[in-house]
Amino acid sequence: MLKSIMLTLLFFPLWSLSGCSQQDSAQFDLEQAKQKWGSSGVAWTETDLQLLESGELLYRSNCSVCHGRDGKGDMQLGGPELDGSPFANGQKSELIERILQGKKGSAMPAFADALSDKQIAAIASYLRNAWKNQAADIVTAEEVKQLR
Ligand code: HEC
Repeated sequence: MLKSIMLTLLFFPLWSLSGCSQQDSAQFDLEQAKQKWGSSGVAWTETDLQLLESGELLYRSNCSVCHGRDGKGDMQLGGPELDGSPFANGQKSELIERILQGKKGSAMPAFADALSDKQIAAIASYLRNAWKNQAADIVTAEEVKQLR
C-alpha cells in the first residue's frame, strides 16, 4: 500500500508532464499502426489499419496455438506455416472458405459459427499482410458474407 502511494507520487508528475491525454494516445496508436503496416507501400485508410490491428489480435487468440504467433506453424498440432502460404497470398476466396469451413479430417476447425463476418475479414486481412505475406489488400465483411 505504502509502496503504491510512493510510486504514484513518483510517477504522477512525469505522467502529467508528458501531456498523455486520451486523444493523444489514440493518435499515437494510429501513427504506430501506420508505421507498422506502412512498409508495403499501400495507402491504408484508418479503417483498413483498424481491421489489420484487430485481425492480429484475433489471429493470436484463435489461430496462433496451431499456426504459431509468427505464422511458422506448429509441428505438434499440425498447423502448417501461413507465412508465405499460397492461401494467404493467392485467391481471397480460398482463404476465406478455409477459415469458414475448416478442413474435414484434419485438426483445422471451421470458424463459421465461432466468428462473425467482420472478425473473419479482419483475420484474413491480417494474414494477407502479416510477416512476408504481401497481398497488399483488405478482405471485407461483405466478401466473407457472400461465401458463407
Ligand atoms: C487446432 C489447430 C488449428 C487451429 C486452432 C487453426 N488451424 Fe488452421 N490448420 C490446422 C491444420 C492441421 C491445417 C492443415 C489441414 C490440412 O490441410 O490437412 C490448417 C490449415 C489452415 C489453412 C490452409 C493452409 C495450408 O497450407 O493448408 C489456413 C489458411 C488456416 N489453417 C488458417 C487458420 C486460421 C485463420 C485460424 C484461426 C481463425 C486457424 N487456421 C486455426 C490447424 C488449426
